[in-house]
Amino acid sequence: MRIGILTGGGDAPGLNSCIRAAVARVEDLGWEVIGIRRGWAGLLENDSLPLSWSLVEKTVSLGGTMLETSRTNPFKREGDDKRVMENFEKMRLDALIAIGGDDTLTVAHKLAQRGLPIVGVPKTMDNDVPLTDYTIGFDTAVNISTEAIDRLHTTAASHRRLMVVEVMGRDAGWVAIASGLAGGAHLILIPEVPYDLEEVANFLLERKAKGNTYSLIVVSEAIHPKDGTEPFGYEKREVDAFGHVRLGGVGHVFAELLERKTGMETRATVLGHLIRSGPPTPFDRNLGTYLALKAVELIKEKKWDYMSALRGTEYISVDLGTVLSQTKRVPIELYNQIKLFFR
Ligand code: F6P
Repeated sequence: MRIGILTGGGDAPGLNSCIRAAVARVEDLGWEVIGIRRGWAGLLENDSLPLSWSLVEKTVSLGGTMLETSRTNPFKREGDDKRVMENFEKMRLDALIAIGGDDTLTVAHKLAQRGLPIVGVPKTMDNDVPLTDYTIGFDTAVNISTEAIDRLHTTAASHRRLMVVEVMGRDAGWVAIASGLAGGAHLILIPEVPYDLEEVANFLLERKAKGNTYSLIVVSEAIHPKDGTEPFGYEKREVDAFGHVRLGGVGHVFAELLERKTGMETRATVLGHLIRSGPPTPFDRNLGTYLALKAVELIKEKKWDYMSALRGTEYISVDLGTVLSQTKRVPIELYNQIKLFFR
């Protein structure tokens, strides 16, 4: 058997340990393994490299992806999907492990539906892939964000300021909720619960009136207001091959809006790509490892169009069709529960 591996979408810490584990297991089975560079772009351009244990052995602690990545969508331009199918043949692949978030997994599913032997592995720091408790990269993002929040408390307090901390997460507030809660944020805003500027401003003024000298709020990059007006200028921004607008920077605009409304001296810190860069946490390293081992089991069982996943303490398989028919957003009940700490 000749197995290909690719990583698509945004990079995430833990990808290299996933690739490394897949290589170890595939070699152990006596099969051959090749890496496809830059996600689906590598299959479009027939760009690959042979992988071996000696090449991946020391990558367990490295962030990013040694295979590089891109947001290439072979179903966007006419003929690209055919080219991918042809190159799959040319590369003599018997199976492919596609590691990615919902966009990469959607492409994997479409190709599997056309008969290609593909299995998926869930990766995204956003943690919004359904039917797996965690995705590769989320834990590291929460760790880095929490450390940043811990640090930002001290400067905010020293200057008696309002600090707005923006974290990535696209349409899901998982990173904001997890790091904001762990970091003792005074308020957390997420895309799942549209905010009311007036209410946020009043909350901050009340906090101040109660004797609190500073406030720190965590905002997810895709927050939006209740009234439907969009102060963040998304309409002027470019979209990627999957139709997603480029986010990032709302923290600055939001900080300005709040400063004007409350009269409080305000600063914003946009954590941006920092939270998905650098060494993965031990959890992400091992998550990547076990998800890869499970993915190779799926190949052995010829369970195409399935994804490895973590449920509780067990590594399981779920079919991609079901995964992609759902969304995984922060439930309102969870948000309401942690409102207890917004004070
Ligand atoms: O989907 C992962 C993610 O990190 C999002 O949280 C973020 O909006 C996006 O990628 C950023 O993408 P890029 O690296 O292409 O700017």
